[in-house]
Amino acid sequence: MDQSVNGNWQSFWTDLPKERGQAVWDSEPSVTATAHLPLFEQHFAVDLPVLDIGCGNGTQSAALATLYQRVLGLDFAPAAIEHAAALQAESGVEFRTFDLTDTAAARALHEELGDTNIYMRGVLHQMPDERRADAAASLAVLLGTTGHLFAAELSPTAGDTIKDAISQSADAVPKMRQVFKHNLTPAAWQEGKLEAVLTAADITIVQSGSLILQGTDTLPNGDRLDLPMTWVVANAN
Ligand SMILES: C[S@@+](CC[C@H](N)C(=O)[O-])C[C@H]1O[C@@H](n2cnc3c(N)ncnc32)[C@H](O)[C@@H]1O
Repeated sequence: MDQSVNGNWQSFWTDLPKERGQAVWDSEPSVTATAHLPLFEQHFAVDLPVLDIGCGNGTQSAALATLYQRVLGLDFAPAAIEHAAALQAESGVEFRTFDLTDTAAARALHEELGDTNIYMRGVLHQMPDERRADAAASLAVLLGTTGHLFAAELSPTAGDTIKDAISQSADAVPKMRQVFKHNLTPAAWQEGKLEAVLTAADITIVQSGSLILQGTDTLPNGDRLDLPMTWVVANAN
C-alpha cells in the first residue's frame, strides 16, 4: 500500500505550531461542529459513542464532547494526535491513532465499542482515490446497524476557489500554501463522488446539502477564505 499520504500528513502536523487556528480549516466550533449540530442531532442516538474521524488537532472533537457523553478523536497521523492531546487535554476526548482505510482496525474498534455515530470533516476529499473504498467499508463497519454518519467534505468546486486565492499574490493565503507544501491534495474529486463512494459500501444517504467552511486564512483584500462543502447524513442499516 502507498504510505506517502500518511507521511505527508505526519509532516504537515509535525511542522505546524501547536496552537489553535494554525491550520486553514481550524475554524471555531461555533461556526463548525456546533453549527452542524442541527443537521445531525436528530439522527445521533445519544447513548452511542461519537467518533471524530480524521480529528486533526481535536478542536471539533472537544466541542462534540460538550454535547455527547463519550467522544473519541481518531487520526492516522501521530503528530496530529500529539496536537490534540496537548490542546484538548481537559476536554475528556479519548484521542487515538487510527487509519480509516485499515478495515481490520475498524473491525477491532467496532468489536470494542459496538455501533458508533461518526462526525467526519474534511477527510475523504483529499484521500487518494484508490483508498476511498476501504475508508467507506470501515465507515460501514463502525456504524453497524444503529449508528449515523455526518460527513462534511470540500466540494469539487473548492479546488477553483483555492487556485484563485493562491494566484492573487505570491504570499496570499499562507495557511493554504502549507497544505500544498506537504503535497496534500484538497478537493481532489468530482461532483457526486462522496455519495458514490458511500453508496458503494452499502451506506445509505439520508439527507444532504451544502455549507461553507469558514477558513482561518485571509485573502489579500481582507476577506476570509471561504470554501464550499457538501454534507451528508447517512447510515448503514
Ligand atoms: C483537513 S484535516 C481535518 C481535521 C479535522 N477533521 C477538522 O475538521 O479540523 C484532515 C485530517 O484527516 C486526517 N486523515 C487523513 N486521512 C486519514 C485516514 N485515512 N485515517 C485517519 N485520519 C486521516 C489527517 O491527518 C488530518 O488530520
